[in-house]
Amino acid sequence: MTAIGIHDIELATAHHVVDLADLAEARGVDPAKFQKGLGQDEFSFPAPDEDVVTMGATAAHRLLERTGTEGVRTLMFATETGVDQSKSTAVYVHKLLDLPGEVRSFELKQACYSGTGALQAAIGIVARNPEERVLVISADVARYEMNSPGEPTQGAGAVAMLVAADPALVEIDPASGVYSEDVDDFWRPNDSTTAVVDGGLSITAYLKSVEKAWKDLEQHGGPSISDIKAFVYHQPFTKMARKAQAHLAQVTGAELNDGALDTGSVYNRRMGNSYTASLYSALTSLLHHEDDLTGKRVGLVSYGSGSVAEMLTGIVKADEDTRRRVRDKVLGMLDGRVRLSVPDYEGLHEKTMPSADDTDTPRVTGSPFRFAGIRGRARHYERV
Ligand code: HMG
Repeated sequence: MTAIGIHDIELATAHHVVDLADLAEARGVDPAKFQKGLGQDEFSFPAPDEDVVTMGATAAHRLLERTGTEGVRTLMFATETGVDQSKSTAVYVHKLLDLPGEVRSFELKQACYSGTGALQAAIGIVARNPEERVLVISADVARYEMNSPGEPTQGAGAVAMLVAADPALVEIDPASGVYSEDVDDFWRPNDSTTAVVDGGLSITAYLKSVEKAWKDLEQHGGPSISDIKAFVYHQPFTKMARKAQAHLAQVTGAELNDGALDTGSVYNRRMGNSYTASLYSALTSLLHHEDDLTGKRVGLVSYGSGSVAEMLTGIVKADEDTRRRVRDKVLGMLDGRVRLSVPDYEGLHEKTMPSADDTDTPRVTGSPFRFAGIRGRARHYERV
């Protein structure tokens, strides 16, 4: 059977950052609640000329600079913060990246899960035509109401992956475990810019799904838990990965590698929740920071509220130098974000951009792509 998986991976995030110590002070909360209780230090926040399209295009541009576009005939964009009810984010990115017309481009949605659905669909396409490669982008902006319990778990980010035969980075195993159940734990109605969430229910629904997906993986010929060197998890806040791992350890009776919870959350602690991109920024963080991973098996735990979960495993192929080659660039990108005061963040959070008004957005982002504004109800993007 052809080995298929993630050939290369790249990250992007938003221009601004909010320090959770500042937010804690403004909200009259002990900063330790955010930093230790939730495991978050900062969150990324988009400038007015940024959105999931600009972040996704930036991550993909950085990726394709290394890999080229040869063989790419499919672009899938996974997001739950799409910019239009009909036209997909993938089509905007297709143009920004100047891809040839002979590429199918479309969007997928199921809360934070759909990046994993896209990865599995991409593997299916490559299995059928091993000379094809698939560009998978996951990008989201996590927004909750101001002053709500979800506020410190906001964030923004994008991950682009090239899925190919004989992958250089991570070969994904054929077996996976899945679980779906209709739960009203988190959703965003069409007329709302912020998510509606039942925090307590969302945590128990996530943990139940981890258990169910693990049992399904076992029943479908997955590896033994002792063969998995490290797990990475969807991280709405990094403490959630600790809760999930503790639950998995309890269910399986295994002793799991808790060090990987640190190496797999370096970026997430600083970007905040990036919904569909969260698991894959955790994977990137693990690949960049965990020692002795080459040739070892990792577990990927995906959860999207509503709810769908999937547990994948894969073998890390790349050596340490290859895995770490862009680590300093990612850290530089996070260090280079422009800090917002809490009042400035609140001003941006409140701002809406109705599609009926022609608008030119101010030039703020340092990314290669920007959302230029609205003309005749259509969104316009440009390469900077
Ligand atoms: P909350 O009610 O503000 O927090 O909301 P809490 O009172 O439960 O405290 C949180 C933790 O901080 C607790 O630790 C406290 O003990 C600790 P835990 O018991 O959980 O281990 N704490 C402190 N620690 C140190 N020093 C202190 C201190 N004070 C308290 N002084 C909640 C928390 C997560 C519910 C809220 O942030 C929320 O609603 N977030 C959004 C929903 C969410 O992220 N759910 C996660 C699972 S669902 C999911 O992952 C899917 C999602 O990504 C969406 C999608 O799929 O699209 C969300």
